[in-house]
Amino acid sequence: MKIEKLQKLLEDMSLEEKVGQMVQIPGAMMKKGGIITGPTESFELTPNILQMVGSVLGINGAEELRTIQKEYMEKHPHHIPLLFMRDIINGSETIFPIPLAQGCTFSPKTVEECARFAAREATARGLHITFSPMLDLVRDARWGRVMESPGEDSFLNAQMGKAMVRGYQGDTDTVGKGHMGSCIKHFAGYGAPEGGRDYDAVELSERTFREEYLEAYREAVKEGSAMVMTSFNTIDRIPATANEWLMRTVLRDEMGFNGVLISDWGAVDQLINHGVAKDSREAAKFAIRAGVDIDMVSNAYMKYLAELVKSGEVEENLVDEAVMRILKLKNDLGLFENPYKDGTKEAEERMIRCEEHLQCARKAAAESFVLLKNEKALPLSAAAQESLAFIGPYVDEKMLYGGWSYPMHPEKTITIREGASRKKSNIIYAKGTYVLEQGQHTTNGITQNYVQDEVKEMLADAMEAARSADKIVMFLGEHAKQSGEGASKVRIRIPENQMDLLRKIYQINKNIVTVIFSGRPVEVSEIAAMSKAVLMAWMPGSEGGNAIADVLFGEAEPGGRLSMTMPRSVGQVPVYYSRLSTGRPNPEGRTGGGINGYLDETLIPLYPFGYGLTYTDFRYSQVELDRDVMHGEDVITAKVTVQNTGDTVGTETVQLYIQDLIGSVARPVKQLRGFQKVHLNPGESKDVSFTIQEEMLRFYDIHMQYVSEPGEFYAYIGPNSDTENKRMFQLTE
Ligand code: GLC
Repeated sequence: MKIEKLQKLLEDMSLEEKVGQMVQIPGAMMKKGGIITGPTESFELTPNILQMVGSVLGINGAEELRTIQKEYMEKHPHHIPLLFMRDIINGSETIFPIPLAQGCTFSPKTVEECARFAAREATARGLHITFSPMLDLVRDARWGRVMESPGEDSFLNAQMGKAMVRGYQGDTDTVGKGHMGSCIKHFAGYGAPEGGRDYDAVELSERTFREEYLEAYREAVKEGSAMVMTSFNTIDRIPATANEWLMRTVLRDEMGFNGVLISDWGAVDQLINHGVAKDSREAAKFAIRAGVDIDMVSNAYMKYLAELVKSGEVEENLVDEAVMRILKLKNDLGLFENPYKDGTKEAEERMIRCEEHLQCARKAAAESFVLLKNEKALPLSAAAQESLAFIGPYVDEKMLYGGWSYPMHPEKTITIREGASRKKSNIIYAKGTYVLEQGQHTTNGITQNYVQDEVKEMLADAMEAARSADKIVMFLGEHAKQSGEGASKVRIRIPENQMDLLRKIYQINKNIVTVIFSGRPVEVSEIAAMSKAVLMAWMPGSEGGNAIADVLFGEAEPGGRLSMTMPRSVGQVPVYYSRLSTGRPNPEGRTGGGINGYLDETLIPLYPFGYGLTYTDFRYSQVELDRDVMHGEDVITAKVTVQNTGDTVGTETVQLYIQDLIGSVARPVKQLRGFQKVHLNPGESKDVSFTIQEEMLRFYDIHMQYVSEPGEFYAYIGPNSDTENKRMFQLTE
C-alpha cells in the first residue's frame, strides 16, 4: 500500500482503533494453544480489545493463524491485519545451537544461515516477526540469559547481530518471502544486572554503556532491524521502558531507529513495581512519552491511553506517530496485500525440519563446540578395538536445546546414543544418574524425583561399564531449564549428583573424556582435572547427537572459540578479557594482598575469551605491519603467517586485537577488532591479513566525544585473547 493510503487510513481510524494497534496480547487468549512467556495474573483483558488489538505473540501454525487472521479482519472496522510475533531465537522447528554457542562459531555466515532457515520455517507457520536477535552484552555467568546472547564482546556481538538481522529479514527494505521482521532486544544493557540477578538494576557509567553495551544494538539498528524491544532493567535508575533519554535521544535520534519499539512483557505496568509510576494510568503516560509504540501484555495502553489523550495529558500526535510506525511495519511485510504472508500448510510440510535445515543445524553445532582440553584423547577411533563406554544422564537426553525452543517434535531430537550408534556399534551406554539432584528443580518447576532402586541400578550399571571399557566418555550438564529467563544462579556448577558420578567413575577408570552441556559458562576445573579431554557442547539443538558424534569421531572438527570467558570460580564473576589495567596491575594473576586480585584465587580465568583447541596445531609468525605510522586516511595492513604444524586438517580462528596504550580515559587492555577463519592442510601455511583503520581506534574520550587520539597502539594477532603476539604502531595527528 502506498504511504499516502496509510496516512489516509490513519486519519480515518478512531482513537480506540489507534490505541488497539498499540496493544499486544498473548495469542493464547485468542485461541487455545500457544505459549505464555510471562506473568498474566494482573492482565485484565478488556472485552472490546479482542476486536482492536494490533498484534499477538506466542502462537503459530499456518492454518490456525489463517483462521484467526480471517475472523479478526472481518470484524475489524478497517480490516487491518494482525501482526503475529514469537520468540524464534535459535530456530522454529529445526532447533539450532543456542545463541551463546552460535557466538562461539565466530562465523557470521553460519549464524546468518541459521537465522534464514529459522525464518523460512517460522514464516511457513504463519509468523511475521521474531523477538530476536538478543544482543545484550553478557559478562556474568550467574545470569541465566547469557544463553540467549552471542557473548561478552561488543565487536563479536555486533557482527552476529547484523548477521541475524540479515538472515531473518533478507537484504531488501520490504521483508520478502520466507523472511520475517527482526526485533533487537533488550534495549538496553539488560545483560549487566547487579549480582547477575535477572531483572535487577544496571549500574554502568555512560562511557562504558555507550562504548561496550550499546555497540551491538547500534550496528543491528544500522542493519535495518524492523523492531526494538525495551528491557526490564533501569539505566541510571530510570526504567528503560520509561527512559526518554534512552529511547528518544539515543535510540531514535542518535542511532536513527525509525521502526517499531515494543515493550517487553508487562514492562509498562512494571513501572509501578519500579516505583516510578503510581498506577497503570501513569505508567501508560511515561511509556508513550518515552516512545514505546506497542505495550506487550500490560493494562496500561489498553485501559488508559485513550483517556489520557482525551484528557489532554498525552498529545494525540504521539499516538499517531506510533500507529503510523506500526502500519508501516505491516505494510513492509506486505500484510495489506496478503495478510497470511507465507503461512500455508504446503510451505509447512516443505520447510519444517527439511534436510537442508537439519544439515545446517548439524554443521552449526559442530562449529560451536569448544574443545577446552585434549591430551591426545580425541578424536575417538570408530575402527580401533578400544572399547568405549558412554556414561551420563545426557546419553539419551532429548532436551538438547535451550529455553525459548518449542519444537512441535522434540521426540525427533537426535540423542547422543542415536548419533554415536551410527559411528560405532559396540559402545556401552549407561545413564549413571539423573540430570538433577534429588528434589532439585528448574525454572519451570521441573522437580527431579528419584526412584531409589533405579538410582542404585543406574550407578551400578555405570560402574560396570567403566570397568569393562578402555575409554569412557562422560556426558554431563546443567538441566536445559537451569538457564534462560528467570534462571540466575549463585552456583554455576554441574549438578552435584553428576559430579559424584564422575568421581566414582574416575576411581575405576581414569581414561576419561567429558562432554558438557550448559546454557552458560560453568565451573569445570574439577571436571578438567579428571578428564583427558573436555568438550563444551552448550545446548546444540535438534542435531546435537549427530554433531557430537561427528566431532568425537573426528568427522568434523570442534570449531568453536569461547565467546564468553570461562571462570575458575563464580567468585571471579563478572570476568572478561577486555578489562582495564587498574592502578596495581597483576597480569600474572598472583594471589595475595595489596594487588588487583584475591587472597584466595587468581584473577586469571580458567579459559579466556576466544580460546578453543582443534585436532591439530597451528604456529603463528610474528605480526608484520606494512607501516608503523598511521596518519589521516592511512590504513595499516597487519599480517601473520599461520601454519598447520599438526598431522590433521584444521580450521583456525585468527583474531585481531588492538590496545590503545594511553588515552584521555583508561582504555581496555585489548579489544577484538577482527577475526578470520583459515582452513589448512597438515603442513600448509597461509598469510592472514587485517586492515587497521582509524575508526577502529575510536572511543568515548574525556569529553564523551567518540574520537581516536594520537599515540601508541599494539596490534595483536593470535588464537585467543591471551595472545602476546604484537607489534606497535603510532597514530599521529
Ligand atoms: C519475555 C522476555 C523477552 C521475550 C518476551 C516475549 O519476558 O524477556 O525476551 O521476547 O517476554 O516472550
